[in-house]
Amino acid sequence: MNRERSYNGCRMAQIIDTLTTDAERCVIPGHGALAAKPADRELFYSAEVARATDELYVRVRDVIPAVEWPVYAPYIHAISQLKQERDAVVLAHNYMTPEIFACVGDIRGDSLQLAREAARTPASVIVQAGVHFMAETSKILSPEKTVLIPDMAAGCSLASAITGEDVRLMKAAHPNVPVVSYVNSSAEVKAESDVCCTSSNAVQVTEWIAAEWDVDRVIVIPDEYLARNVATQTSLRIITWQGHCEVHERFTASDIEQLRISYPGALVLAHPECPPDVLSVADFAGSTAALADYVERERPKRVILLTECSMSDNVAVSNPATDFVRPCNLCPHMKRITLQGIYDALLEMKHEVVVEAQIAQRARIAIERMLSVPLGLKPPGFTTGRAAVDVELMSRA
Ligand code: 13P
Ligand code: SF4
Repeated sequence: MNRERSYNGCRMAQIIDTLTTDAERCVIPGHGALAAKPADRELFYSAEVARATDELYVRVRDVIPAVEWPVYAPYIHAISQLKQERDAVVLAHNYMTPEIFACVGDIRGDSLQLAREAARTPASVIVQAGVHFMAETSKILSPEKTVLIPDMAAGCSLASAITGEDVRLMKAAHPNVPVVSYVNSSAEVKAESDVCCTSSNAVQVTEWIAAEWDVDRVIVIPDEYLARNVATQTSLRIITWQGHCEVHERFTASDIEQLRISYPGALVLAHPECPPDVLSVADFAGSTAALADYVERERPKRVILLTECSMSDNVAVSNPATDFVRPCNLCPHMKRITLQGIYDALLEMKHEVVVEAQIAQRARIAIERMLSVPLGLKPPGFTTGRAAVDVELMSRA
């Protein structure tokens, strides 16, 4: 294994430009062998740390090389102690690297699951191992709690694609049309919305609000592709915004064609932030949790997850018999979250997320409305293979 070999198969937008690889996995600066040495932090891989973390390592040994464990283990042990001292929980999104997801995450899942648990946890401190809009959602749902994010710059191309002012202009152009905002948006945008959705309930929420308002048109923002994919699942007319996920917009239908030739028989699962032509040729599509559940349930021999790289590692931990092909697009924002960042945040109680009270109050109504939408209106996931449907696309003039 040549750890210095520069990576040529792993694609990621911006920020992280030095990637190395060991045969199968992307290695990200700040993660893996390139992380700060424990000695820098006066943390050591002592016999006590080894004893406390050995059992954890057994769970993740297929996705974390043994040589890296002595770097991670002291942080994992120290974070576990700090969590107790601070009465804290770590909410870990499915895109976290496995040393975070499996080893320090107390609550793990997709955006919807994390939002639900943020509202429920009795802990007084939440550390959001995810991006900024997720931490804002947690703070809005739990205003009395301290919400920390290890890196304030962990943003999202969708959340930064639209402002509250843009939403006001859309509403003015379409009076009496309800606004569904994807949780990948700022608190200000949520505050302008009638209800939020995530990729796991976007279709259900859109149909629910249309029925509540007795209308046949719904504004679904800011993800053009999610909205277009919702449009293929409903007879409602969808109006949307020209925002894209910089990770998922890179997958193409011809990628899938090539992958199917190279890996005959592999199942192709896609996130609904991918363009509609990708979903039209995928075998299944759904939120990160729906993709993980699909693998758990169907136990495919070989699978291709068209989503962020770390998902495959995390799903592989509980599905060792499945072979994961990794077309691998990394989210530069999610990758800002590191074990060291989580440790520092807890140690110094830093990077507290605050949401202005009036905005938080209005955004909370939209999020709580989403949480109250009855599930099971439609099966989880998107039906793939559907033809594209016309939508109305808006953008800043
Ligand atoms: P999920 O809600 O499916 O976890 O998606 C969040 C996200 O940011 C995907 O890019
Ligand atoms: Fe945002 Fe895309 Fe990253 Fe998800 S993967 S946080 S949508 S940029």
